Amino acid sequence: MPSRLTPLLAVAALLGAASLFAQETIRIGEYASLTGKEAAYGETSHKGILLAIEELNAQGGVLGKKLELFTEDNQSKQGESATAVKKLISREKVVAILGEVASIRSLEAAPVIQGAKIPMVSSASVNSRVTEVGDYIFRVCFVDSFEGAVLAKFAEDHLKARRVAILTSVSNAYSVGMSKVFKERFTAAGGQIAVEQRYSEGDKDFRAQLTAVKAAGVDAIFASGYYTEAALICVQARQLGLNIPIFGGDGWDAPPLLEIGGAAMEGTYLCAHYSPDNPSAEVQNFNQRYRARWGSLPDAWAALGYDSAFVLADAIRRAGSAEPKAIRDALAATKDYSAVTGRITIDAKRNASKSAVILTVKDGKYKFVTSVAP
Ligand code: PHE
Repeated sequence: MPSRLTPLLAVAALLGAASLFAQETIRIGEYASLTGKEAAYGETSHKGILLAIEELNAQGGVLGKKLELFTEDNQSKQGESATAVKKLISREKVVAILGEVASIRSLEAAPVIQGAKIPMVSSASVNSRVTEVGDYIFRVCFVDSFEGAVLAKFAEDHLKARRVAILTSVSNAYSVGMSKVFKERFTAAGGQIAVEQRYSEGDKDFRAQLTAVKAAGVDAIFASGYYTEAALICVQARQLGLNIPIFGGDGWDAPPLLEIGGAAMEGTYLCAHYSPDNPSAEVQNFNQRYRARWGSLPDAWAALGYDSAFVLADAIRRAGSAEPKAIRDALAATKDYSAVTGRITIDAKRNASKSAVILTVKDGKYKFVTSVAP
């Protein structure tokens, strides 16, 4: 008898040890573009998340347990985010997932995460459809309809633009969404969209579109896509003699925009989530901690990544449990959480209502212009 029982007991002991181990840490997943075309923001958002996890663990963790971060790189490639989160869920057995910055990748991963009933907190995906995927999908940033309204008002009041051209990356849901909301708001306020031109992700030559823009005679150009294409659009617009204001959304907010665009970016504007120039104590404090850890100032993606991890940790603490459903319910009840990027209250649609900032490019650097409250 004992000889037959021994292996069973050994297995039981192993299982016991495994489940005990599983309970020792709270396993958090992250999917991010650590390499590839959009690595500029994947890297900094990862650094923000890592700093948050380290700080939380230094404070003793959450519910007496250390947080353990499992990160998957999607290489900025379509198709890879779904694979990444499947791995996090089935292999790493994470109880919640952080990511992504880009709406195009959040939209890809969210259905998988929703299907598994694991809560997801996106740091910076503004596209309205992201949280519409389901009741487990949250974000800690504002939504594109707010950002579009901010930009429409800015174009009207500050740029005094009446006729605007829109350039949209039709293969990018973020750009399509931003162009749509901007158009609605700008025309509702009496402005005119004189010409709309389209391109696709990865395009490098925008001269045909810009020639059409030039022929239409506009006061300003809204380039609603991500930074790589936006910078090339600015360079080629200047080459064609289009010396009118060009502006974009938060998809412009990354150092490569300034590197690729160079002098062509001077005097352009963008709507952003965060400015390290903000004199508020929270921002200045965060700047210091981030710099001490990583040797540079944080950008919006670092700040939002950091906030996404803290909002999640706060929910786990309030839930009193690291069980996905309990975390989801606590996330939905987030109210007035004081984060680095502003106060965060999660609304009925699992979105955050937050202030935006307008930045301009001056002497090759982003410079704070104004802050706009919801
Ligand atoms: N807010 C953008 C989005 O929703 C995120 C982003 C920022 C993407 C910067 C690219 C560059 O997609």
